[in-house]
Amino acid sequence: MTVRRTSIHGEWSSRWAFILAAAGSAIGLGNIWKFPYLAGEYGGGAFVLVYLLAVGIVGLPIMIAEILLGRRGRQSPINTMRTLAAEEGRSPHWQWLGWMGVLAGFLILSYYSVIGGWTFAYVVRMAGGLFAGATTGTVDAAFSALVSDPERLLAWHTLFMIMTMIVVARGVKSGLERAVRFMMPALFLILLLLVGYSMNTGYFTEGLRFLFAPDFARLTGAGVLAAMGQAFFSLSLGMGAIMVYGSYLPHTASIPRSAIQVAAADTTVALLAGVAIFPIIFANGLDPAQGAGLAFKSLPLAFGQMPGGSLFGALFFALLVFAAWTSAISLVEPAVAYLVENRGMNRVRACAWVGVTVWFLGLGTVFSFNLWSGATLFGLNFFEALDFLTSNVMLPLGGLLIAVFAAWRMSRKSTESELDAGPTGYRLWWVLVRYVTPVAVFIVLLHVTGLLGR
Ligand code: PHE
Repeated sequence: MTVRRTSIHGEWSSRWAFILAAAGSAIGLGNIWKFPYLAGEYGGGAFVLVYLLAVGIVGLPIMIAEILLGRRGRQSPINTMRTLAAEEGRSPHWQWLGWMGVLAGFLILSYYSVIGGWTFAYVVRMAGGLFAGATTGTVDAAFSALVSDPERLLAWHTLFMIMTMIVVARGVKSGLERAVRFMMPALFLILLLLVGYSMNTGYFTEGLRFLFAPDFARLTGAGVLAAMGQAFFSLSLGMGAIMVYGSYLPHTASIPRSAIQVAAADTTVALLAGVAIFPIIFANGLDPAQGAGLAFKSLPLAFGQMPGGSLFGALFFALLVFAAWTSAISLVEPAVAYLVENRGMNRVRACAWVGVTVWFLGLGTVFSFNLWSGATLFGLNFFEALDFLTSNVMLPLGGLLIAVFAAWRMSRKSTESELDAGPTGYRLWWVLVRYVTPVAVFIVLLHVTGLLGR
C-alpha cells in the first residue's frame, strides 16, 4: 500500500541533495582517522576483507532499510518507529529503537567532537609550519603534547561542539548541500595527492600488501567484531542518522541506487586513506598498531616532507574538520527532530539542550587521554569503552533490529511499494535483510559476550 506522509521539517531539494547529505554523514573521521588505525591494529588485509564484506552484505541492506523506514515514517526515528509499528499493527515498544539511536548519537558525538578538536588543532599547527621537515620525533612529541593537555583538548572540543550546534540550529538543509558539494571533491583531491606522495616513498607496495593481502592467521574474533562495527560506524548506520535523512527524501528518488552511491563513496574514501597512510607508516618505521594517533602522526610526516606541505596540510585538516562536522550534525539530528516534534521546542532551544549534554559527556573522553588514562574497565579507558560500546554493540544491535523490523514486522506490500526496486532487486534485498544480514550480525555480536567474559 502506498503511503504519502510529508515531513514537518521539509524535504531535500532533490535526490542529489540527499546523496550529498548522506555522504557527508558517512564520510568523516571514521574514514580517515579510524579505519586506518583499526586496520593497523587488527593486522591489515584480512580485517579489510571482512570490513568490505560487512559493508556489502550487512551495511548496504541495512542502509536501504533505514532510508525506507525513514521515508515512510517522515519523522524523527522515535516517532517514525512508533508510527510504522502502529500502522503495521505491531508493538509500540519498537519506538525504543529510536531512543537507543538517540543515546548512541549522544555518546558517539561526545568523543567524536574531541577528535574533531584534534583535527582543528592540526589545522593551526600545519598552517603555522610546525611540521616543516618533520621527523618521527617531532610528530610524536607534537601529538603527545596535544593529548596530554586537558585544557587545550577542552578548548578545541568546546569549539567543535559550538560549531556543530550552530549549523544544526539553523536547520540541516540550508547550506549543507552547497558546502558538501565543494568539500567532498576537494578532500578527495588532497587524498589523491597524498597517495601520489606515498607512491614515491619506496614503500608503496608494502603498504598495499599490508592492506589488501589477507593474512588470516592475524584475524581474531575481536578483529571481526571491530570490522563489522566499523562498517556500521563508517556508513552511519544503526542509530537513526540515515533514517532521519531518509525522512526528508522525496518520494520520486530511488532508494537502492542512492544507498549504493553513498556506500561506494564512503568505502572509496576509507580505502584511499589507508593507501595513503600505510606506505608512510612503513617508510618511517612507525608502528601500524599504535592506535588512535596513527593518522595524526603519519600524515604530518608526509606534509612536512613535500613542497608546499604546510599549505596542503592545513587545507587537508581543514577539510577533515569539515567532513567531521557534516557527520557530527547527523549524529544529533534525530534527537533535535524529536525535541521539535514532541516537546514543541524550536531548533535553537533543542540544540542548546543537546549541545550542553553532549559537551559534558565529552569531558570523559578529554580526560581519558590524560588525567584519567589509568582508569580502565575491562582493560579499556573511558574513550575506548565508549567507542567499543557504541560501534561494536549499540550500532550493530540497532542495525539488527532495523533489519528485523523491516523484513519481519512490516508487510511485504508496504516495503515493496516504498522501495520500488523492481521484482528482482526487491527480492534480493528482501532475502538479504530477512535472513543473511540478521544472522551475520547476530553471530558476530555473540562474540561480545565472549570478549567481556574473558
Ligand atoms: N560515519 C561517520 C564517520 O565515519 C560517523 C557517524 C557514525 C556519523 C554514526 C553518524 C552516525 O565519521
